[in-house]
Amino acid sequence: MFLSKEPLYFSSCVNLYKVTRTLKPGSDLQRERKNQVMNISLVDFDVHPEKVSKQIVLPNKREVLLRPLRPDDASILGTYFLSLSQETRNLFAPHPFDQATADALCAQIDSTREMRLLAIVKEGEIERVVAYFITLFYVYDGDRKRYEEWGIPLNDATDCQIAPSAADDYQGTGLGRMMMEHLVELYRALGYQRIVLLGGVRQHNEQAIGFYKRFGFRTVAEFTTKAPNYHMIANL
Ligand SMILES: CC(C)(COP(=O)(O)OP(=O)(O)OC[C@H]1O[C@@H](n2cnc3c(N)ncnc32)[C@H](O)[C@@H]1OP(=O)(O)O)[C@@H](O)C(=O)NCCC(=O)NCCS
Repeated sequence: MFLSKEPLYFSSCVNLYKVTRTLKPGSDLQRERKNQVMNISLVDFDVHPEKVSKQIVLPNKREVLLRPLRPDDASILGTYFLSLSQETRNLFAPHPFDQATADALCAQIDSTREMRLLAIVKEGEIERVVAYFITLFYVYDGDRKRYEEWGIPLNDATDCQIAPSAADDYQGTGLGRMMMEHLVELYRALGYQRIVLLGGVRQHNEQAIGFYKRFGFRTVAEFTTKAPNYHMIANL
């Protein structure tokens, strides 16, 4: 089991190691969650990742494969983490960005609890991760408590959580939009009713806030960690 000694960030997009260690295993409802028509279920994602994979073409004609993280992705995920600029790391801080973290994440994949969707391009013979979107199929305790204080109960059965990131040179290319469209379709098919930001968003992060608003997110509250944040939620 991976144990992080890193401090909790509790900025935008919380430290998921804490989540992994403190939350109960997926509920029966999560494990059995499936969409009969589309023939998909959370349990399937690890075994049949092709069911939630998709080839897309960006507006700039670049071909990108969307697929969930696999156990053998540690090297390309680590390269992605190490490539992120300090600016992006300051905005997107769910966990440390190093090879050890990538190794640990690839060793603890559990599709009944979460999905880490990768966007992958081919650069010559090399595969490169150019975006990494985390979805939790449960509610992180820290966010649940905050929302309770604001009078908005969150529900593991109908609320999922998201923390998105794209490589610096792929931000603003339409990649995030296309990944989100893919995910929204998936969340709906699985019966989720709302998407809640994981750990909120920095108030100065205009790019991400514009991105969230485009998908119907609305601000529900403000809170301050190391800096002021908004918490945002969207109906599906
Ligand atoms: C947030 C993020 C994942 C969005 O992905 P992206 O690929 O840059 O987004 P897209 O280019 O697909 O843009 C999608 C929408 O976001 C909005 N958007 C994009 N750039 C924006 C900007 N600079 N200002 C305001 N809105 C913006 C637009 O509504 C856009 O829709 P449109 O193209 O139809 O106009 C990406 O920018 C990123 O990784 N940012 C740094 C990390 C981060 O902040 N993560 C979130 C932490 S809470």
